[in-house]
Amino acid sequence: MKILGIESSCDETGIAIYDDQQGLIANQLYSQIKLHADYGGVVPELASRDHIRKTVPLIKAALAEANVTASDLNGVAYTAGPGLVGALLVGASIGRALAYAWNVPAIAVHHMEGHLLAPMLETNPPEFPFVALLVSGGHTQLISVTGIGQYQLLGESIDDAAGEAFDKTAKLLGLDYPGGAKLSKLAEMGDAARFHFPRPMTDRPGLDFSFSGLKTFAANTILKNQNQNQNQNQNQNQNQNQNQSQGMVDGQQLDQQTKADIARAFEDALVDTLVIKARRALELTGFNRLVIAGGVSANKTVRQKLAELMHSRGGQVYYPRLDFCTDNGAMIAYAGMIHLKQGQHSPLAIEVKPRWPLNDLVI
Ligand code: KG4
Ligand code: ZN
Repeated sequence: MKILGIESSCDETGIAIYDDQQGLIANQLYSQIKLHADYGGVVPELASRDHIRKTVPLIKAALAEANVTASDLNGVAYTAGPGLVGALLVGASIGRALAYAWNVPAIAVHHMEGHLLAPMLETNPPEFPFVALLVSGGHTQLISVTGIGQYQLLGESIDDAAGEAFDKTAKLLGLDYPGGAKLSKLAEMGDAARFHFPRPMTDRPGLDFSFSGLKTFAANTILKNQNQNQNQNQNQNQNQNQNQSQGMVDGQQLDQQTKADIARAFEDALVDTLVIKARRALELTGFNRLVIAGGVSANKTVRQKLAELMHSRGGQVYYPRLDFCTDNGAMIAYAGMIHLKQGQHSPLAIEVKPRWPLNDLVI
C-alpha cells in the first residue's frame, strides 16, 4: 500500500510517499522561512500563496523520486488541521481533488497526530502505551497514548506554546525568525549560574504549562542589563540623552556573553519545566515510555534531559530524526496509511479545522 502525504498547515510544504512494505520512498520539503524572515513571523496570506506554488511541483518530484506513477498510489493523506486556515485549504483541496481524480480514498490527518506518530518512522519505534510530549510552535501537550486514535490529553499550554516562547524570546534577543534553534545554539556558550528564571506552574499540582511569563522574565532581564550597559556608557559620555531608548527591550544592545547567559537561563527553565511535567505524567499513567515530537523535540537539551529522566526511571525516550521533528509530509503519509488500514477515510467534502483538539479526533 502506497500513500501520498501532503503537509501544508503552516510554513512548510511537505510531500512524501509511504509504502507499507518498503517504508518511506519519497520525501520532499520546501521551507518558507526566507519568505517570512523579513516580517519576523509567518504571514498567513503569503504562506497560502506559496503552498499553491509549491504543492503540485513537489508532488511530481515525489512521484519521480519514488519512481512510481499516480496509478500506483492507494490513497492521498493531507493535513486537515490544526493550522492556518488558508494554508490548510491548499493542501486539503489539492489532496481531496487528486484522490477523486485518481479514484482512491482521501484521508484527513490531524497535524498533531502526525507529529505524535513520527517516531514510528524510525528503526526502533515505541510500543504502546506511552506518554507523548508534543512540543511545537503552536502546541505543548502531554498525552496518554494507549493505541492508534486513543489519545487522552493530560495537560497543555494555557498560553504560549514552547516553540512560540523560544521564538519570541529569540526575537527579544535580536535573533532572526524562527529563533528557537538559534537561541539554543547561543545558550551553549551561556553561563548557567548567572541568571535564574522561574519554572512556571511547577509549584502546584497539574500538567498544564504556561510559558508566556518566561518570555516576560526574559524581556525584563534584557531591559535591566541593557540599561546597566547604557548607564555605564552614559557615565563615560555625559552628553548622551539619559532616557534614550530606555524602556524599549532591545537585545542588540547587550554584549554577546550576556545574550548567551540569558538564552541559557531561558532554555534551562523551559526544559526543566518540561521534565518536571513529563515526570508527573509518567507517574500518573504508570507508563515507562516517553515520546517527544514536534519542532522543539529537535532541541539538544530537551532530548538530553528527557533521556536522563527516562534513564533514571528505567524507561526509554523516543523521538523522530531531526528532519521529522519539524513539519514534514512523511508523518502525514504514515498517519494516513495507519487510518486507511483501519478502514477510515474522508467524505468528498473538502473540510479543514484550524482548531481541532486531539481529543475530538474523528476521521
Ligand atoms: O512542529 P513545528 O515545525 O511547527 C509547528 O507545528 O508549530 O515546530 C516549529 C517550532 C518553532 O517554534 C521552532 O523555533 C521550534 O519548533 N524549534 C526549536 C528547535 N528547532 C525548532 N526550538 C528550540 N530548539 C530547537 N533546536
Ligand atoms: Zn507541526
